[in-house]
Amino acid sequence: MKCVIETSRLFLRELNQDDYPSLAAILQDPKVMYAYEEPFSDAETQAWLDKNLLRYKQDGFGLWAVILRETGVMIGMTGLTWQTIGETDVLEIGYQFNRQYWGMGFATEAAKACKEYAFSVLDVGQVYSIIRDTNIASMNVAIRNGMLVSGRFVKKYRGIAMPHLVFRTKR
Ligand SMILES: CC(C)(COP(=O)(O)OP(=O)(O)OC[C@H]1O[C@@H](n2cnc3c(N)ncnc32)[C@H](O)[C@@H]1OP(=O)(O)O)[C@@H](O)C(=O)NCCC(=O)NCCS
Repeated sequence: MKCVIETSRLFLRELNQDDYPSLAAILQDPKVMYAYEEPFSDAETQAWLDKNLLRYKQDGFGLWAVILRETGVMIGMTGLTWQTIGETDVLEIGYQFNRQYWGMGFATEAAKACKEYAFSVLDVGQVYSIIRDTNIASMNVAIRNGMLVSGRFVKKYRGIAMPHLVFRTKR
């Protein structure tokens, strides 16, 4: 299992098929998925996993499993993915955590480590987090990760027009 990033309490590694139950516990929890309107079905969860396995092959990175070092339990996903805003491809830091592990600073710890990875290993000049305007907890992670709002746009998802804020930080 390839460990990509280590922090004081966590490590991030590539996801694999054995992670499906931990992944489903997150992506199928309606409270975790409130910003996406609906929890994922089994097919959507598998497609999400497959997309990230493909990203590892194509890009060399993607959303990774976040493992609590103390217990070895997978508590969330955090990582880097290419996203498109208008005509521009940007590198996004994304995060989703099992509800049991909210409120302990894990998302911020993992997101900060991904920012450092993007700057030092991938050698990019800026990273982004694209967040629905109703998702305050996620915006607070972006702010703690040193980001400021650089724009806004409306994303259509599940047939709903959802205003999003674009958070960005530069190297
Ligand atoms: C977004 C999400 C990951 C944020 O999780 P979170 O637990 O609020 O964020 P953090 O892990 O950074 O934790 C911060 C909280 O832990 C507290 N905390 C406790 N111990 C801490 C420590 N050692 N270090 C830092 N913060 C600590 C902070 O005070 C803060 O509390 P507050 O929310 O009461 O202000 C979570 O809400 C989530 O999974 N949401 C659903 C998925 C989603 O919408 N993802 C984003 C899509 S854009």
